[in-house]
Amino acid sequence: MPIKVTFVCLGNICRSPMAEAVFKHKIKQSGLERQIEVDSCGTGSWHVGEEAHPGTQRILQQHSIPYEHTARRLSQVDLSEANYLIAMDKQNIKDILRSGPTRAEVGLLLDYAPELGIHEVPDPYYNNRFEEVYQLVNAGCDGLLAHIRKKEGI
Ligand code: 4NP
Repeated sequence: MPIKVTFVCLGNICRSPMAEAVFKHKIKQSGLERQIEVDSCGTGSWHVGEEAHPGTQRILQQHSIPYEHTARRLSQVDLSEANYLIAMDKQNIKDILRSGPTRAEVGLLLDYAPELGIHEVPDPYYNNRFEEVYQLVNAGCDGLLAHIRKKEGI
C-alpha cells in the first residue's frame, strides 16, 4: 500500500492544490510515485467542484509544474486513509481534529521547514501573493519529503 499524503487548506483552491502539485512533482523527480500517493482537500465546502484558483494555476505554469485539480471537501475517508494530513495553517489543524479521529500524522507544512521561521502559509485568496506562497510551499514540501523518506525508510 502506498503512503498517502493529503494536503489540507480552507477552500482547496489556492494553497493545498499548489502543495499537491509541487509535492507530486518532487515525488516524480525522486522516482517515488509508486510509494507515495498525494492529494488535497479543504475544510470548507464553498468551492467544491471548482478548479484551482487562477493565481495558483498561473504560478504552477510559471514554474512548469503539471497540475490537475477539482476542489473537494475533507471527508471521513481522508481521516481514516491518510498517513499524513498536512495543513496550511493552525485553523486547518483545529478543523481536521474536530472532524473526527485519525491515525494520520497531522502537521503544519511549514513545520517541516523550520529554517523559514514561519509556521503558517498565508492565504493568497485575500492578498494575491501567490509567488510568496509558492516559495513557502516549495520549501515546506522539500522538508516534508525528507521527513517522510527518513520516517518510512524510502
Ligand atoms: P485556500 O484559500 O484555503 O488556500 O484554498 C481560500 C479559498 C477560498 C476562501 C478562503 C480561502 N473562501 O473564503 O472562499
